[in-house]
Amino acid sequence: MKTSENICGESKIFKNSTLSSKFGGPISGEIEVPGDKSISHRALILGSLAVGNTKIYGLLEGDDVIATAKALSELGVEIKKHKNEYWTISGVGIGGFEEPRQILDLGNAGTAARLLMGAISGNPITAFLTGDDSLCSRPMGRVTEPLKLMGAQIFSGSKDKLPIGIRGPDMPIPIEYDLKIPSAQVKSALLLCGLSAPGEVIINESIQSRDHTERMLKKFGSNIVTETNHKTGISTCRLIGQNELCPTNICVPGDFSSASFLIAAALMVPDSNLTIKNVGINKLRIGLLDTLVEMGAKISLSRTKNDEFEPTADISVSYSELSGINVPPERSPMMIDEYPILAVIASAAKGITQMRGIRELRLKESDRISATVNLLRASDIVVDEYEDGLAVHGNNKLLKGGSLIPTLLDHRIGMAAIILGLSSKSGISIDDSAPISTSFPGFVDIMKKIGADIFSRQ
Ligand code: S3P
Repeated sequence: MKTSENICGESKIFKNSTLSSKFGGPISGEIEVPGDKSISHRALILGSLAVGNTKIYGLLEGDDVIATAKALSELGVEIKKHKNEYWTISGVGIGGFEEPRQILDLGNAGTAARLLMGAISGNPITAFLTGDDSLCSRPMGRVTEPLKLMGAQIFSGSKDKLPIGIRGPDMPIPIEYDLKIPSAQVKSALLLCGLSAPGEVIINESIQSRDHTERMLKKFGSNIVTETNHKTGISTCRLIGQNELCPTNICVPGDFSSASFLIAAALMVPDSNLTIKNVGINKLRIGLLDTLVEMGAKISLSRTKNDEFEPTADISVSYSELSGINVPPERSPMMIDEYPILAVIASAAKGITQMRGIRELRLKESDRISATVNLLRASDIVVDEYEDGLAVHGNNKLLKGGSLIPTLLDHRIGMAAIILGLSSKSGISIDDSAPISTSFPGFVDIMKKIGADIFSRQ
C-alpha cells in the first residue's frame, strides 16, 4: 500500500475553540475563496481511476477533501502535494484499487462517503467505511440500494448507516435507475461504479442535480452524454463503462457555496462593496444568485469564462435593501446547501421569505431546518418551521445578539451563525469552530481581511 505524508498537512486551526462576530465596519475588497468542495472530491477520485498522472490546481485543502485523499491513498493510490502549487495523483485505472488494510474514516464528509462507496463498488475488493457522529447518523440506503442492484454486497446495521462494509462484484451490472430524490451524490456513486460495468449505465433524474461528475468524466475522456426531455423535464445521463480514463490537468474554481457566506455579509452590512474572484458559476449550483436578485440584491458578474469544464466569474456584491419572496421549491437542487445562509439574509429583508420543499435539509450534516430555526430564534427573529422548510419574517434592525449557537458538527450552520453575528450589537458566538475547516479553511482570515469583526477564543 502506498501512502503519502503530504496529504495529511492541513491541521484543524480552530479545534475546540469558540468563534464570535459582531457588527462592525463595511465588508469590502477583492478576495478569492478556496476551491470547490464537490469538484475537488471528484478530481481526486477520477484522477485515481485514470491511467497515469493527473495534476490538480486549486484543490480545496479542507478536512472533507483530505479525508477523500487519505481514503484513496489507503486504496493504493499515490497522491502528493507539490509545494503550494498543485497536487498530483498517480491513477491506478478503473478496477485498480487495492484492498485497504485500514477502515476508511471519512470524518464529516458525506460526499466522500457516498462517492467512494460507488467507486469502491467498481472493484472486486472489500472495504469498510465509517465517519464522525454526524456522518454515521446520515442515511446511506439511497446509495447502497442501487449499488446492490449493480452487484455490490453491502453490510450495515439495520438502518443503512455507517459503518458499512462493501464487497465490489467482479463486474458491476449496468443498470437503468430512476433517482428517487435529486441527488448528485447518488448519481455520482452510480456513475463511478458504472465505469467498470460492461455496458451502458442509465440514470434518470426528475430535476437535474449538480453535474460536476458528468463534466469531469468528459474531461477524463469518458463516454458520457446527458439529455433533457423538454416535455417531461427528465434528465437522462448515459455512461458506457469499461473505457479507460485519460489523465488530465484540472483547475478547481472557487467554491460558490463558500462564496455565499461572503455574499451574505456584503449584502447585510451597510456600505459594503465586495468582489469575489474566480468563483464556479455552474448553473446547477447558483440558484441562490437568482433568488437574491429576485429579492433585490445588487449583484453582478464579470470576467465570465464559459469553460466547457466548469464556468467561472468574478462576483461583485454591495449592500442592498432586500424584500422577502417565495423561493420556488423546484430551485432547491440548485441551492441545496445555501438555505441556512439564505435564511440569515432573509432575516434582514422586508417581509417574509418562504423556503419550502426542502425536507432533504433535515438529512444534511445536521438537521439544517431545525438548526437554522434555532439560530434565528436565538436572536428573536420570527420564524415558522414546517416539516419541509421554514418561513423567515425579516426585519431590517440591528439584532441584540448575545447568543451561543451549537455548531452541531455542521460547517454551514457555524458559518451562517457567524454571518448573522455581523448584524448584531453584542455579537453571536458558536461553540465549536472546528467544523468550518471541512469546507472553508481560512474562513476567519478571509472574513477579517474583508473587514468583519470576528474573533476566536481557544
Ligand atoms: C454534493 C451534493 C449535494 C450537496 C453536498 C455536495 C456533491 O448533496 O448537498 O453538499 O458534491 O455531490 P445531495 O447529492 O445529497 O443532494
